[in-house]
Amino acid sequence: MTALFDVELAHVNVLGSTMAYREAGDPEAPVVLFLHGNPTSSYIWRNIIPLVAPVAHCIAPDLIGFGQSGKPDIEYRFADHVRYLDAFLANAGISSAFVVAQDWGTALAFHLAARRPEFIRGLAFMEFTWPMPTWNDFHVDAREIFQKFRTPGVGEKLILEDNAFVEQVLPAATVRKLTEEEMSVYRAPFPTPESRRPTWRFPNELPIAGEPADVYSILQEAHRELAQSSYPKLLFTANPGALVSPSVAEIFVKNIQDCEVVELGAGIHYLQEDHPDVIGNTVREWLIRLGVGSDQCKG
Ligand code: BEZ
Repeated sequence: MTALFDVELAHVNVLGSTMAYREAGDPEAPVVLFLHGNPTSSYIWRNIIPLVAPVAHCIAPDLIGFGQSGKPDIEYRFADHVRYLDAFLANAGISSAFVVAQDWGTALAFHLAARRPEFIRGLAFMEFTWPMPTWNDFHVDAREIFQKFRTPGVGEKLILEDNAFVEQVLPAATVRKLTEEEMSVYRAPFPTPESRRPTWRFPNELPIAGEPADVYSILQEAHRELAQSSYPKLLFTANPGALVSPSVAEIFVKNIQDCEVVELGAGIHYLQEDHPDVIGNTVREWLIRLGVGSDQCKG
């Protein structure tokens, strides 16, 4: 599906469907893999990639069911995204990368890192998914609507019929007002109730109060591995945040090795829309400090 105001992306064949991806920079340079969340696409990285591309080979896939990627008839559970992303990486020939991730992109990144630590050269992340022991751990302003998203019948009406994740959650969790042009790009992949199923599934997969049990335990394990990991980490935080409040970030950072923290200021969930320059410039400088961009560090 081509968005009205976005560039047409290249595609990779994956498991009988296709995944689109945005690409920039020198193909010989180390790969920086950008992973988005719900209900966005690689478009959310559009103002960040040009700041990182001078030192890296930037690749930002649209997750299956999102952006310009295909919409195969699957459940769009977290495990489906794992399978499709694994196939994308294999078919695109990406065997290691620095990963930059937000929202469900972080769950995919943490799980990938736990399964294949050799893949990850470094991890920059924000508004990350974590197993929340109770609903009280979920941001107070979002709690009621997310409980409705997970109520059978109610969630389908809100998200499949009313397109609430695009029309309500995205603007409400971005500090600045997204332009009509930006909203039209985010709307383009979801013209019909059935096309919105991937955006309904993700809030139903968020690991809260032990449910869903499989996602909860995968992310518990991934966070245990993350805490022990020795690759370089860079965390962007914002105030008030949504999944990651300043107090969650403070506790998280105390339990983790080798993690730099950059406070962005005001931000809710879609931090890339509110702080692209700081995120892009900080990631580029972080990569340079890690030796990327020097002749010794080729892809
Ligand atoms: C989410 O997609 O997980 C999310 C989006 C907005 C606010 C909180 C969570």
